[in-house]
Amino acid sequence: MEKFYITTPIYYPSDKLHIGHSYCTVATDTMARYKRLRGYDVMFLTGTDEHGQKLERIAKGQGLTPKEYIDKVVVGIKELWKTLDISYDKFIRTTDDYHVKTVQRIFKRLYDQGDIYKSTYEGWYCTPCESFFTEHQLVDGKCPDCGREVEKVKEESYFFRLSKYQDRIIKYMEENPEFLQPNTRQNEMINNFLKPGLEDLAVSRTSFKWGIPVEFDPGHVVYVWVDALSNYISALGYDTEDDSLFQKYWPADVHVVGKEIVRFHSIIWPAMLMALDLPLPKQIFGHGWLVINGGKMSKSVGNVVDPNVLVEKYGVDAIRYFLLREIAFGQDGNFNNEALIQRINSDLANDLGNLVSRTVGMIQKYFNGTLPEAQEPTEFDADLVETAKNTVPKIENSMDKMMFSDALIELWNLIRRTNKYIDETQPWILIKEEAKHAMLANALYHVAESIRIISVLLQPFMPNTPTLIWKQLGIKEGTWESAKEWGKLPKTLSVQKGNVIFPRIDMKKELEELESAIKASQATSIANQGKKEEKEEKEEKEISIDDFFKVQLKVGEIIASEKVKKSDKLLRNEVKIGDEVRVIFSGISKWYSPEEMVGKKVVVAYNLKPRKMMGEMSYGMLLCADDGADKLSLLTLDKDIPSGADIS
Ligand code: ME8
Ligand code: MG
Repeated sequence: MEKFYITTPIYYPSDKLHIGHSYCTVATDTMARYKRLRGYDVMFLTGTDEHGQKLERIAKGQGLTPKEYIDKVVVGIKELWKTLDISYDKFIRTTDDYHVKTVQRIFKRLYDQGDIYKSTYEGWYCTPCESFFTEHQLVDGKCPDCGREVEKVKEESYFFRLSKYQDRIIKYMEENPEFLQPNTRQNEMINNFLKPGLEDLAVSRTSFKWGIPVEFDPGHVVYVWVDALSNYISALGYDTEDDSLFQKYWPADVHVVGKEIVRFHSIIWPAMLMALDLPLPKQIFGHGWLVINGGKMSKSVGNVVDPNVLVEKYGVDAIRYFLLREIAFGQDGNFNNEALIQRINSDLANDLGNLVSRTVGMIQKYFNGTLPEAQEPTEFDADLVETAKNTVPKIENSMDKMMFSDALIELWNLIRRTNKYIDETQPWILIKEEAKHAMLANALYHVAESIRIISVLLQPFMPNTPTLIWKQLGIKEGTWESAKEWGKLPKTLSVQKGNVIFPRIDMKKELEELESAIKASQATSIANQGKKEEKEEKEEKEISIDDFFKVQLKVGEIIASEKVKKSDKLLRNEVKIGDEVRVIFSGISKWYSPEEMVGKKVVVAYNLKPRKMMGEMSYGMLLCADDGADKLSLLTLDKDIPSGADIS
């Protein structure tokens, strides 16, 4: 049996997932279901990307350890995938023990063979994107990917020799035009990143702890993208005692990813695999974004749509249909409530739902619920049968290119053609004449058979609707191959009218309800976010004892003091601290004369970074109490303690 290995990105469990994330997973699931139907041995992997500074900060803001926080979010993510009928075969968490060990082994191997070396990183970091940037990559000083503030970082770091692989990657892309899809993404990568030249990549961090420790240098954690990308092979048991899944499924047939992370998947990941001497994935498919009013739907913008609200209202199949049909995979697409209801009403309620219910209704009414057999062909049959037969290869062709929207357009052409056949044959007229009952039987058989084929082809996209249709038609299942043959419906089938599959929606009334339901779900998450921020602030007001001890305080004795000429505030003091004498400026001349100062024992902030004041360096600070209005008092000692003594 041929294998098919397909993956979604592993999601950051930084918050509840929205319909934008669901889009990616629904599309991947559709592909996985399609390949299973085509007889492939499918491995469908998804999971969560649980390390990195961003998650460490969010958890801290909630007063939780990263793992405590993430465990809660992951429960919600798994529930959402259940709600959306996501048929993944494996769910990987990057905090899983086996993954951690594999990443450590990969890092060590790359270090041992010289693909990773130690140096110092100096540059910019975008924490929300977990990406490094050089000065010239920034756009207006901000992250070129998300437009947010970046942080200056300078730390000891391990580097991966990404530059070494640049030419091989360009060559690979040029020789394998299928590798990066849609095609435009390949030009973007080659022209914007590869041709200008790759720099070696910092692949470890020392400024925070929440990551996979570098085994042979414990102050370092592995850069989260190296950790995350490895999931695609660690999940298969790569480099472990039992690597049978890896042997069977690698290389991946397709990594489905959003367009903003194509760079990581089509440059860094191939370079890592080349360094490990492993084959590259056959394809990276970079899909577009779900946008709202032109902007990417995202938590930080506050325009997210909760998939649970939509599924509760319209059912999972309707939502999946909308996502797959409305937006051409690969391009951005607007999410719009009106378009959603419009699709449900026209494509699902009118075209599909109505076709099924009126057909089953007529078989019940005219033939007591028993499906009649086909008779002498009529002039209308050939075109319907022809359309049905042609639809299957067209859908297969679109699915092989992951053009879900095109596949559904083809399927709906058949649905509409079948409805048209009913209008052409006019069963309600044929019933009136005994002599035309054979034609009536023939017409209803043809419609029912076409519905069978439609229901089979619907399976990858809609996990529930085909079963509902089969129940009404009285059949049990339908293999993909069975859609290629006309005339498979068994004789003397008993049909059974069921509930309407897709009820029509009153657009005006529903739009109001839907908008307020979405707002309510945003309001609750915004409220929660508000709470988070409150907590974060409180957290910042309280510091740990370790933080407190970072400030070194010492006893100093003022041995000289003078007014600074051009300033009406400053005194220039010479302060003896143990064996050394420091110059410390202090803005207290309004309250103390130089004469008063000399001989005082004061409290000095000792390890402050020196700063220039009035053209001279000041080495520390004298502590004062200040009522914020017009009173100020130097802190002095009330017993005699030698200068240089520690204060704690
Ligand atoms: O990037 N429309 O995780 P993530 C379409 N952990 N897709 C969207 C979207 C939208 N509005 N918003 C998000 C990461 N996505 C990494 C991946 S893989 C080794 C590591 C998609 O949770 C986005 O494009 O930020 C991406 O493909 C996926 O959700 C996960 O995003
Ligand atoms: Mg993202």
